[in-house]
Amino acid sequence: MSPKNAGGSPAYRILAIETSCDETAAAVVADGRHILSNRVASQIELHRRFGGVYPEVASRQHVLAIQTVVEDALADASVAHVRELDAIAVTNGPGLAGSLLVGVNLAKGLAFASGLPLIPVNHLEGHIYSNWLCTDGSPVADLQASEDGNGPAGGSASDSARTQRSGSASDQFPALILIVSGGHTELVLMEGHCRYRLLGATLDDAAGEAFDKVARLLELGYPGGPAIQAAAESGDGGRFQLPRPLMRPGRRTELQPHAQAPTLPTVLPVRGEHRFNFSFSGLKTAVLNLMRQLEREGAEARQTQTASDIAAAFQMVVVDVLLGKTADAAAEFGVKQVCICGGVSANGLLRQAAEQHFAKLGLPLHCPPLFLCTDNAAMIGAAAYYRQSYAVARQPSPMGGPHSTPHDKPSEPSARDFLALDVYASLPLVDSIQR
Ligand code: KG4
Ligand code: ZN
Repeated sequence: MSPKNAGGSPAYRILAIETSCDETAAAVVADGRHILSNRVASQIELHRRFGGVYPEVASRQHVLAIQTVVEDALADASVAHVRELDAIAVTNGPGLAGSLLVGVNLAKGLAFASGLPLIPVNHLEGHIYSNWLCTDGSPVADLQASEDGNGPAGGSASDSARTQRSGSASDQFPALILIVSGGHTELVLMEGHCRYRLLGATLDDAAGEAFDKVARLLELGYPGGPAIQAAAESGDGGRFQLPRPLMRPGRRTELQPHAQAPTLPTVLPVRGEHRFNFSFSGLKTAVLNLMRQLEREGAEARQTQTASDIAAAFQMVVVDVLLGKTADAAAEFGVKQVCICGGVSANGLLRQAAEQHFAKLGLPLHCPPLFLCTDNAAMIGAAAYYRQSYAVARQPSPMGGPHSTPHDKPSEPSARDFLALDVYASLPLVDSIQR
């Protein structure tokens, strides 16, 4: 018998698959909010020796892991056969082509064999909907949250507990979304479910990419975000001054409340089009130049107290810039809630500083629990549910075939029910904001 939702009707259960980068993940999600199972096979150990994700190694490992991960996710959710479910969802972009192919092909095969509808999901929309997953009272979430403090994303257990209590995002719009992952940094105005306007994005490196590259320079280990965070804990963030890219000179922020002007000049004027844009590659170069200068002076910057001090200064600047722009956009667009998501949203300093800032304003802030910050399939199941519920009626089907809504009967797959990869995908936007 299939489980019921609060309204007494059978829950709409989606098997979600995510293989866009270096995590092989599968989950079963009910009604877009309830995690019935959530399996993630991480490839971190495999890529550590390369200091970054090696695409061919990643796709081969997905091939090896995917079947077990999906079977385990189904077993955890007490699903004996895929046919018992209502739909299959899969990330079809953006991501590494070879990695995406593994998940997409398995999902296609399962959908074709079972007759279930197949829902393509944009990975960034998945990160957004990680904030709509309910984590209170779910056995999977409780178990994984208790492991958060030791997980690859870093962060502290108390931090995770605090975010758990804050609950999941509400249906209050407009909402401001900061997506900060290894490949993307975007500020998005969400006007309703599945309706987005892009306010700004990175002009070069993503925030997570900057963490990874600076950690590599400082030889702190992989993945860079948790490594920088750990090193920064024993560092003095005030010892070195780094530029705050694309920030208004003199802008006072949570971490630098007395800032008058950055010590190094801001290169671009921060008006108009760049107000909500980001740039992190110059910051990485500033770290490199600082290390070279220290070496000329006979100091060793790598793996020493100096490395911890640089890590602390770098982390402070990144958090300051992310939070400063998010706070400006929240004020300008009068949003009703702020959501932060993506791997970098696991960062303890970012979570703490954001919490302090928005608590003062009385504006609800949501960050997913740590286990939902980095890549997972539960978020793909959530996004698929909302896309089916809210967006399908407005848009032609990206699969070319007829869609079912969560409360319709699934349609039979037709020859037109194919799904293409979308490796360069960006969020399906309503429009950009004109400034
Ligand atoms: O969202 P995600 O798992 O994958 C992508 O979609 O890219 O994000 C991975 C990124 C990596 O760059 C990683 O270094 C960063 O998230 N990250 C962190 C932390 N944990 C993961 N960055 C800063 N602090 C953390 N605690
Ligand atoms: Zn991601």
